[in-house]
Amino acid sequence: MQHITVIGGGTMGNGIAHVFAQSGFQVTLVDIAQSALDKALATIAKNLDRQVVKGTLSEADKTAALERISTQTDLAVGVKNANLVVEAATENVGLKLKIFADIDANAPVGAILATNTSSISITKIAAATQRPGQVIGMHFMNPVPVMKLIEVIRGYATTDAVTATIMDLSRQLGKVPVEVNDYPGFVANRILMPMINEAIYTLYEGVSGVEEIDTVMKLGMAHPMGPLQLADFIGLDVCLAILRVLQEGFGNPKYAPCPLLVNMVMAGKLGAKSGEGFYTYTPGSKELVVSANFK
Ligand code: NAI
Repeated sequence: MQHITVIGGGTMGNGIAHVFAQSGFQVTLVDIAQSALDKALATIAKNLDRQVVKGTLSEADKTAALERISTQTDLAVGVKNANLVVEAATENVGLKLKIFADIDANAPVGAILATNTSSISITKIAAATQRPGQVIGMHFMNPVPVMKLIEVIRGYATTDAVTATIMDLSRQLGKVPVEVNDYPGFVANRILMPMINEAIYTLYEGVSGVEEIDTVMKLGMAHPMGPLQLADFIGLDVCLAILRVLQEGFGNPKYAPCPLLVNMVMAGKLGAKSGEGFYTYTPGSKELVVSANFK
């Protein structure tokens, strides 16, 4: 396995390109927007610099990693020499099905096609290709260069050989892969999102305040960050979309999103990225908003 193509140069795509390049792989990063590719390269350079300052990477290794990354706006060209394609484009079913059909039509016959989706069925994505046995989930965590876990998700048709190759490759990146089967939310989001939803219900029902709930989980359960702050960082729209996937996928009302979460998303309060969620975010500082969202 030498040549990796990453589709999508956003938050996750640039991190995925970063770790593959740092581990010695040739990487082609594909995005529809040249501006996204320029931004991705600048982010990767900045994050590699940070590793140099910390003493975990040499200046020469940083330069070599950057030289291994090329960019491309034409997907067909970008995947034509790939041994592995890792898709990390926007989370949208229709878009991913189209991207996988395009990758399948243009990537070498033997190439493995992976997706970094947080919530879409791997089996459904695989069915958009002529090679469902070679389609797999490779769910990296954010921020990719820092987080050790990769959830490796086997679709209904994914072969043992492809799974073994991706487990081994994940270890070559210095990560810890965990193999899971393809059911809604996989493992990470199936457990995380109901916890976040319950934290929002606890707030909604007036059991306690934003900061109090987060403090209980941080100091009581040794979580590095409280669930409401984590929801703000993930994006409240993303949390809502994943809860709906769980609710629909299992047909179980226990996954129904809290009405407060639904209201906040409708009001455009999406968390850190919109400047306001359970907390208010201003550049360089973080200011608490306790009651403003609960009228
Ligand atoms: P993002 O919005 O930061 O980046 C998505 C990128 O995809 C954008 O640069 C966009 O221009 C590009 N794109 C859209 N259509 C494309 C196409 N047809 N061809 C090539 N590029 C295209 O999104 P983010 O957060 O990086 O998420 C990407 C994937 O990773 C999603 O499936 C998401 O569910 C998953 N994910 C996200 C995590 C996170 O914390 N942000 C964590 C784990 C998984």
